[in-house]
Amino acid sequence: MIKKYTFGTPFPTESIVVPIEPSQGLPEYGEINLEDGFTFTYHMDPEDLVYGLGEANRGINKRGYVYTSNCSDNPNHLEDTVSLYGAHNFIVVSGVLTFGLYIDYPSSLTFDIGFTRTDELVIHCQETDLDLYIIEGDDAYHITRQFRKMIGRSYIPPKFAFGFGQSRWGYRTTEDFLEVARGYRDNHIPIDMIYMDIDYMEEYKDFTVNKEFTDFPAFVENMKKDGIRLIPIIDAGVKIEKGYEIYEEGVKNNYFCKKEDGSDFIAAVWPGYTHLPDVLNPEARKWFGSKYRLLTEQGIEGFWNDMNEPAIFYTPEGIQNIKNKMKAFITQEENKDDVWHIQNQVMSLANSPADLASFYHNINGSMVCHEKLHNLYGFNMTRAAGEALQSISPEKRCLLFSRSSYIGMHRYGGIWTGDNKSWWSHILLNLKMLPSLNMCGFLYTGADLGGFGADTSRDLLLRWLALGVFTPLMRNHAALGTREQECYQFEHVEDFRHIIGVRYRLLPYLYSEYMKAALTDDMFFKPLAFDFPGDSMAANVEDQLMLGGELMIAPVYTQNAKGRYVYLPEEMMFIQFLPDGEISEEILPQGHHYISVPLNVVPLFIRQDRCIPLADVAECVSQINTDHLKLIGYKGSSYLLYEDDGYTRDYDLKGNCRRVG
Ligand code: GLC
Repeated sequence: MIKKYTFGTPFPTESIVVPIEPSQGLPEYGEINLEDGFTFTYHMDPEDLVYGLGEANRGINKRGYVYTSNCSDNPNHLEDTVSLYGAHNFIVVSGVLTFGLYIDYPSSLTFDIGFTRTDELVIHCQETDLDLYIIEGDDAYHITRQFRKMIGRSYIPPKFAFGFGQSRWGYRTTEDFLEVARGYRDNHIPIDMIYMDIDYMEEYKDFTVNKEFTDFPAFVENMKKDGIRLIPIIDAGVKIEKGYEIYEEGVKNNYFCKKEDGSDFIAAVWPGYTHLPDVLNPEARKWFGSKYRLLTEQGIEGFWNDMNEPAIFYTPEGIQNIKNKMKAFITQEENKDDVWHIQNQVMSLANSPADLASFYHNINGSMVCHEKLHNLYGFNMTRAAGEALQSISPEKRCLLFSRSSYIGMHRYGGIWTGDNKSWWSHILLNLKMLPSLNMCGFLYTGADLGGFGADTSRDLLLRWLALGVFTPLMRNHAALGTREQECYQFEHVEDFRHIIGVRYRLLPYLYSEYMKAALTDDMFFKPLAFDFPGDSMAANVEDQLMLGGELMIAPVYTQNAKGRYVYLPEEMMFIQFLPDGEISEEILPQGHHYISVPLNVVPLFIRQDRCIPLADVAECVSQINTDHLKLIGYKGSSYLLYEDDGYTRDYDLKGNCRRVG
C-alpha cells in the first residue's frame, strides 16, 4: 500500500513509473511542519532500525548519524562525510511501526536519523515543493519490493559486463592498453573489459580519441577478438574550443546550461574551461545522447559517465573572486586569520554552492536554477546515454554506469561508488552500501576494487577482490600517481588468477540471480534481517550479506586477520574455494562461528537445503560453458537457472529458466 502526499508544486523528476493518486490530509506517521521549509519528524523507538539511503556513508542500519542528499564530487569518504555522489531519498523504519518513506525532491535534503536527538528522525529541506510517499507492508523487505515496483525495472547490462574489468587513470596509448591485456592473458587471469579513463581522449574532449590511436575501430575489434571490450569514460563537461564539433553545435543550439544573463555557463574540469550540456532539457539531452554513436560506430559497447554531479573545479567568477582577495592579502600585513582565510577560499573554489546556484536549465522554456534540481544532473546525463543507446542499438544491450545518480536513473544504467581509497575500512563501506543501493533500484553496482586513491597493498587487493567476486560490477580501478595495482603487478599472481577465476565459476549463478532480481524488482544483496525478519541477532549484522536466494557472504576486511567471526541465522554449508581448485564443504549449525580464511581463499555460505551451479574456470565470459555445470550445496536440492543469450534486450523469465540438479 503506497500513499502519496504532495506539498506545493514539486518538480517532475520522473523517478517513479507507476503513478500514485495523491492522498488527502497528512500521513499517519510522523509530524510535518511547513514553517521553515519542510520538516518531517518521527519519534523512534529505541529498538527501531532504519534502512536505505542507497549510496550513503556508514552502516546498513543508518541510525545514529546525519546524511545529506546532495550529489557531491568528494573523493574523501571519511567517517564524517555526509554526502556522496548519489541522492537516494528512500528509507524504511523497521521496528514498533514499520513503514517506508520516499521523498521525491531533487535539491539538498537532510536525514537526521537519531543524531541530534537519539530518538528523533528528522527530515528537512528548504523548499516545500515535494512528493512524500509512505509505503506500508509486512516488513522492510516487503516494503522495499513495493517501492521497487513503483520506480520501475532496474537496468540490465550485457552478460560480458559481469566479467572482471581493469582500469587505471593514466592509460593513454594503444601500447598501454595492450600491456594490460597481455598482463592478464599471459598470466591467465580472467578479464573481459579494460576501461579507458580520460587520457584516451584528445585533450579530454568527449567523444574523441587521441592521435595515438591510428585506427581506433581496428584496435577495438582486435581487442574484442582477444575477448576484451574497451569501455571509455564520458565526462559531463564539453571543452570550450573553437572548431570542436560538439562545442560548436551546443553553443549554436543553446544546448548548454546558461547563466542568468543568457550566456553559456563556464566551469573548469579536466579539459580546462567547459560548458555543461543541459541534459534536463529533452532536446539537449537527445542531442548529447546522440553523440555516443560516434564511439559505438567504432565498435564500443559500453561507457562510464563521470563528473556528472556535476563536478566543478572552479569558474571564472570564482577565480576572479580569489584574485581580488589575493591582491588584498598581498598588500596587507597578514595575520594568522588572514592566512587561514585565504587557504579556505582557495580550497572552497571546487564545487562551490555559489557556482552551483549560478546557472540555469531550460525547462519548457523557463529558466530554472540548477540548485533547485541539482541531484537530477547525473541521472539525466545517464538517461541521455541510455535513451540514445536504446535507439542506436534496439536489439543489443550496452554497458552503462554513472558516478552521480538519483532514484530513476537505475532504469538507464548502474553506478560505481566513486573515488574510494585503498583503506581497509572501505572494503566494509563497500559491503554496507550494497543492500541499500539495491533497495533503491541500483543492482548493477560495485566499488573501485583495491581502492582508487592512495597506494594499495597485495593483501588489501586480494581481500577486496574476494568481496568483488560477488558484486555485479567487478572492477579494479586506481588513481593517477598511485601504486600500480593491476593483478599481475604483485607476487604470486596465481592467487589473483584463482580469486578472479572463482568469479567466472560463479558467473552463471550470479547472472541468473541478477536477472531474476531485475525482472521481478527484487534485491540481489539483502541485509540478513530481510531474509530472517524474526531474528534479532541477524538485525545487528553489519558485515555479512544475503546474496540471491541461496547464498550468504562474509568477506574478511581486516589486515593480517587469518579469518573472522560469522553469525549463521540458520544451518548453512560453509564453502571454501581453495587455491588448488578444490572446494571444501562443511555444514555449520545456526549460531556464531569463527572461520579461518587464508588470503587466497574465497569463502561463502549456502543456505540450508539449497545449492548453486558452478562452471569450470574460463578466461572470459563468452568461454563459460553452461552445459557443464556442477552443483555444490545440499544434496537432493536443485536450482532454477536463468540463462539467456546475454546480449539481446528481450529478457523473459518464463522462457529462459531451467532446473538444474
Ligand atoms: C574522477 C573519477 C575517477 C577517474 C578520474 C579521472 O575522479 O571518479 O574514476 O579516474 O576522475 O577521470
